[in-house]
Amino acid sequence: MKILVTGGLGFIGSHTVVELQEAGHQVVIIDNCSNASESVLDGIESITGIRPDFEHIDLREKGAVDDFFNRYPEVHGVIHFAASKAVGESVEKPLLYYENNIGTLVYLLQQLVARGGSSFIFSSSCTVYGQADHMPITEDAPIKPAESPYGNTKQIGEEIIRDTCRVEPGLQAISLRYFNPIGSHPSAEIGELPLGVPANLVPFITQTAAGLRTQLSVFGDDYPTPDGTCIRDYIHVVDLARAHVVALERLLKGRSKSNYEVFNVGTGKGSSVLEVIRSFERVSGKKLNYRIVGRREGDVVEAYADTTRANGELGWKAASSLDDAMRSAWDWEKKVRGL
Ligand code: UD1
Repeated sequence: MKILVTGGLGFIGSHTVVELQEAGHQVVIIDNCSNASESVLDGIESITGIRPDFEHIDLREKGAVDDFFNRYPEVHGVIHFAASKAVGESVEKPLLYYENNIGTLVYLLQQLVARGGSSFIFSSSCTVYGQADHMPITEDAPIKPAESPYGNTKQIGEEIIRDTCRVEPGLQAISLRYFNPIGSHPSAEIGELPLGVPANLVPFITQTAAGLRTQLSVFGDDYPTPDGTCIRDYIHVVDLARAHVVALERLLKGRSKSNYEVFNVGTGKGSSVLEVIRSFERVSGKKLNYRIVGRREGDVVEAYADTTRANGELGWKAASSLDDAMRSAWDWEKKVRGL
């Protein structure tokens, strides 16, 4: 029995591979290296002592996907990370996002359905809730119209899986709706490596402190929140990775309540942009150069998770604090930049 991790060289994927291996699972990674490098395998191996199998495959090539499953008959569990995730880019290149995020999902599910008795974990996002009406957000909160093609691919992806599970009892699936993953493995052997200028807050903070960027722009301080900046639920990537292992084992042990389930994966605690900056300054001992600018289009005011379902049903709970996560993000940035 092997677990296929698509996008296993990426930020969340690589941390999940480490946690899977440490829990005793054998892993094969598929990645097309479009946003990650094969050298991540070295980082994984240095943490776990095990080099996972690796297949350089682009999941958009249906023939290559089919061929993979012929060569790996022992794969009955899949964690599917491989996808494009830049909101702005998705507006510019919608077809790339639909092909990358939807086409590939269909090819994988076709293979899993054909072999029967398979487990599937899908990377979804709290973006499916849009600006939720109530905080914290439960899994039953309504799905709002997507703000971007990226967000739409997560909604459509969930629908595709739900519709398939309805008619394929051999397929067991869970969608995990991530809140905001940050940080890196405490060893600093793997971490987040965005290409070009980071769009997300935490890598922008650490790159600014490392001298790659001159200043962080804080997008708006006139929101209806205590300090006027937006609120998110920042979760340590290692906690998020562990949620995948727990969810997969729930499926493998036949413990799920139905063959399609959805869980929020967050800490349950909201933090403002200024609180994240303060946390960074606390753990790094550095003053961050930032200034308040106008709002960023498409940002929701606040989003943090109700984690009751994940805590109770999965028996999983985030263990790390915001400070832990920021410290690990900074350790990683320092290592990558040789500081
Ligand atoms: C973003 C996406 C979300 C996606 C997630 C993937 C948007 C609107 N949302 O989430 O759909 O699932 O990334 O990782 O793009 N901020 C600054 N300055 C910066 C960067 C960010 O002030 O330079 C603020 C933002 O306004 C926001 C917070 O920091 O309030 C977090 O931003 P970010 O890290 O981009 O995450 P999300 O917007 O929550």
